[in-house]
Amino acid sequence: MYKLIKPILFKYDPEQAHGMTIDALKFVQRYPKTLPIIKQFFHYENDILTQELSGVRFPNPIGLAAGFDKSCEVPKALEYAGFGSIELGGITPKPQPGNPKPRMYRLVEDQALINRMGFNNLGMNKALSNLRKYSYNIPVGLNVGVNKSTPYEDRYQDYIKVLDTFKNDVTFYTVNISSPNTENLQKFHDESEFSQLCTAIQSFKVENDITVPIFIKLTSDLDLTSLGHMLPPITKTFDGIILANTTQQRDGLKSENRIETGGLSGRPLFERNIELIKHAYKETNGTFTIIGTGGIFTVEDVITMLRSGASLVQIYSALVFEGPGLTSKLNKALAQYLNKNGYQNLKDIIGLDA
Ligand SMILES: Cc1cc2nc3c(=O)[nH]c(=O)nc-3n(C[C@H](O)[C@H](O)[C@H](O)COP(=O)(O)O)c2cc1C
Repeated sequence: MYKLIKPILFKYDPEQAHGMTIDALKFVQRYPKTLPIIKQFFHYENDILTQELSGVRFPNPIGLAAGFDKSCEVPKALEYAGFGSIELGGITPKPQPGNPKPRMYRLVEDQALINRMGFNNLGMNKALSNLRKYSYNIPVGLNVGVNKSTPYEDRYQDYIKVLDTFKNDVTFYTVNISSPNTENLQKFHDESEFSQLCTAIQSFKVENDITVPIFIKLTSDLDLTSLGHMLPPITKTFDGIILANTTQQRDGLKSENRIETGGLSGRPLFERNIELIKHAYKETNGTFTIIGTGGIFTVEDVITMLRSGASLVQIYSALVFEGPGLTSKLNKALAQYLNKNGYQNLKDIIGLDA
């Protein structure tokens, strides 16, 4: 089906095509009787794929990465699309339009995208009221960012405002310090900035008795030594680490659009992110939750990421190129791989190659 729709969608600007997809999902969500039909096409359940992490049950390890549903507009439709979890957002306290358009590009020859969206979203209050329209049967996470207009020294408080607003409504949070499209955001990777952020988050957790897991998402452009330095405060403050967000590298790309500024996602991220995941797994002796993202297209990619140390994975770019059937395809093939090789569950393969 997607083979028929894709050439039509690819005639449109990528953000316009994305908007059409969101509209279609809104339609589905508005007519709940259509949801079981979607489920029939895209859902795949198998006990061998289930896992409990930080007290949360994940029905399968393939999650939707942040940035697809920026303002929590279609979470109920996404629940039926076969993901083991969905990460909504990035959400900021105040609504903001993001960067001028065009700001999203396909790099077809490279199976990649470049985006410089800049946290376009409807703001935390509207996003919360969108989210509250439904209840959910899979883990629903929230990716948290900061407003462009927030003064530099107050930025860590933006995270706290969003965490506080959603504390009774999400299954997990992701503190996103890795978007390249908000000036200076990645400075939170620096030691003193990061330490201030960790202190703020720790106080918030203690003062509010927070049990919802909080993950941190780092940039793909981090060198292994810097990752090593960040891991001790990360394991103290957070419940897991997402490796990794987009890159600003452009090495080896063929597509004309490689000259665009922004974060590069998709296939070119894969090898680099595997390196980061293996390093984090080794440095934490396999005791800390790692969520892998970046360039996953096939079940072999999923298996490689899990064997490198990730307990869960997240996808975005591959959905643009392969369509929504990819999730159940990956889950089915992963279950087959586990069964065929005599593994009892996902834990049996996590970190095997690290
Ligand atoms: C259009 C677009 C918007 C994104 N927005 C966000 C975001 O708001 N927050 C975030 O943490 N990551 C964001 N990402 C990054 C993805 O969540 C994901 O980590 C990255 O694209 C790597 O996965 P992939 O190669 O499967 O796309 C965005 C990616 C794309 C393509």
